[in-house]
Amino acid sequence: MTKKRVAVIGAGPSGTAQLRAFQSAAAKGAEIPEIVCFEKSSDWGGLWNYTWRTGLDENGEPVHCSMYRYLWSNGPKECLEFADYSFDEHFGKGIGSYPPRAVLWDYIKGRVEKANVRGWVRFETPVRMVSYDAASEQFTVTAHDLKNDVMTSEQFDYVICASGHFSTPHVPYFDGLDTFNGRVLHAHDFRDALEFKGKDLLLIGRSYSAEDIGSQCWKYGANSITTSYRSKPMSFHFPDNWEQKPLLTRVENKTAYFKDGSSKEVDAIILCTGYKHYFPFLPEDLRLKTDNRLWPLGLYKGVVWENNPKFFYLGMQDQFFTFNMFDAQAWYVRDIVLGRISLPPADTMAANSAAWRQREEGLTNDESMIRFQADYVKELIAATDYPMFDIEGVIQTFLVWEQHKHENIMTFRDHSYRSLITGKQSPLHHTPWKDALDDSLEAYLANGESQANG
Ligand SMILES: Cc1cc2nc3c(=O)[nH]c(=O)nc-3n(C[C@H](O)[C@H](O)[C@H](O)COP(=O)(O)OP(=O)(O)OC[C@H]3O[C@@H](n4cnc5c(N)ncnc54)[C@H](O)[C@@H]3O)c2cc1C
Ligand SMILES: NC(=O)c1ccc[n+]([C@@H]2O[C@H](COP(=O)([O-])OP(=O)(O)OC[C@H]3O[C@@H](n4cnc5c(N)ncnc54)[C@H](OP(=O)(O)O)[C@@H]3O)[C@@H](O)[C@H]2O)c1
Repeated sequence: MTKKRVAVIGAGPSGTAQLRAFQSAAAKGAEIPEIVCFEKSSDWGGLWNYTWRTGLDENGEPVHCSMYRYLWSNGPKECLEFADYSFDEHFGKGIGSYPPRAVLWDYIKGRVEKANVRGWVRFETPVRMVSYDAASEQFTVTAHDLKNDVMTSEQFDYVICASGHFSTPHVPYFDGLDTFNGRVLHAHDFRDALEFKGKDLLLIGRSYSAEDIGSQCWKYGANSITTSYRSKPMSFHFPDNWEQKPLLTRVENKTAYFKDGSSKEVDAIILCTGYKHYFPFLPEDLRLKTDNRLWPLGLYKGVVWENNPKFFYLGMQDQFFTFNMFDAQAWYVRDIVLGRISLPPADTMAANSAAWRQREEGLTNDESMIRFQADYVKELIAATDYPMFDIEGVIQTFLVWEQHKHENIMTFRDHSYRSLITGKQSPLHHTPWKDALDDSLEAYLANGESQANG
């Protein structure tokens, strides 16, 4: 019998979780299919693989990266720790709870380097199209080898789409933006807070990007921050030079006007207005269409494309849980492919998804959303050999994190938490976040005065 073939699209945290899932089965003696992972960029790690570039990359492809210099984890690392590869194992010592981007990128890479699966990835090879032939039950994946400028088409038995959904900006228009006498950009193109030192900055949006980009710019010396919300203001206590306004109505020269009739002179506008699920490489019958939410429809167990259960999506949900949720999904998909988990008929899958969606629609606050995603992760892990971990402990850590954010949005990253994988308390980082201007891996890992808190 010929070996089955599996295509994975994307080598970010989700795609690399899939590689590790298959490698882990192989290491325990299982026969695994041939895996080919197509990755558009020249390295793995997805959004965590930072580039200074914006717009198009060196190959003329849309830049995937939405991360920026000085980005630190916005949640405790203890909430995303891999159950099969602890931070302690990777770094050989305890580290603080909110590492900067470079440190988390190092951690993501460490697990797959140890698993020795880099050879499964074709870098600088974006997938251009996928099609399915019902007669042969095969997918054709057409990809572009950018280094050699060659298009190839190959057959696969399964396709797993892990291309992320925080890369294609959602860019609304406000009257006057086209004649604004300053810089206008989307969060996707934000790179360096120092650009806005001494400036008056307006951010549109009230979610993580607005909160965090505003905080970065405040930390690196912006003169003032104004955030403008559509639905409701953020419920944090911001510093004195940070104000919240209702939605922007129009811009004239450098003056921004808001719904309550007030106005403000600003130097730059950053649209922190979210991202689109965008799959230009997929045909109509395989394409997920959803807004950013905890339960997109059409995905049984959040991963199986119900219209064609040999096609899967990873990481398409809005995310409280991240790396360990991608693991739970990747192990689950692996076990379907390996025939260890069998799928029910289409109507049963759809009914199951509908029930999750109904529960999702009734969620009223962050705790209920965190518990919802926790139940989902737990259900997937229970079905595979991914190591179960203390998920209630993760929920409790998220709740304390939220409390710390509400106490002080500029100091919440100075706390530390207990690992739910090793049980060890993480040390406090050697420097308070607001004073730590060097976000390099070397600076973060340098030994300094620190002590654990609870
Ligand atoms: C600004 C920002 C900050 C964040 N901060 C945090 C944080 O602090 N903590 C946290 O846990 N999460 C954070 N996240 C959430 C983030 O979504 C996840 O951590 C994680 O990166 C998602 O992994 P992924 O593999 O699903 O997608 P991505 O990381 O987006 O990776 C997708 C990969 O697919 C590749 N790809 C895309 N299209 C193609 C194609 N056609 N062919 C081949 N390859 C393709 C891309 O090049 C990329 O490598 C943040 C997100 C953003 C936008
Ligand atoms: N590590 C970090 O510190 C960090 C930093 C940034 C982002 N992230 C991650 O990045 C992901 C995406 O976050 P995000 O904030 O970019 O997107 P998001 O969570 O999807 O939020 C989108 C925001 O845009 C607003 N919006 C959309 N259309 C609008 C319009 N026409 N007018 C005004 N406002 C509009 C929404 O407003 P309403 O709420 O009113 O609808 C919402 O506040 C998250 O997973 C987050 O964790 C992490």
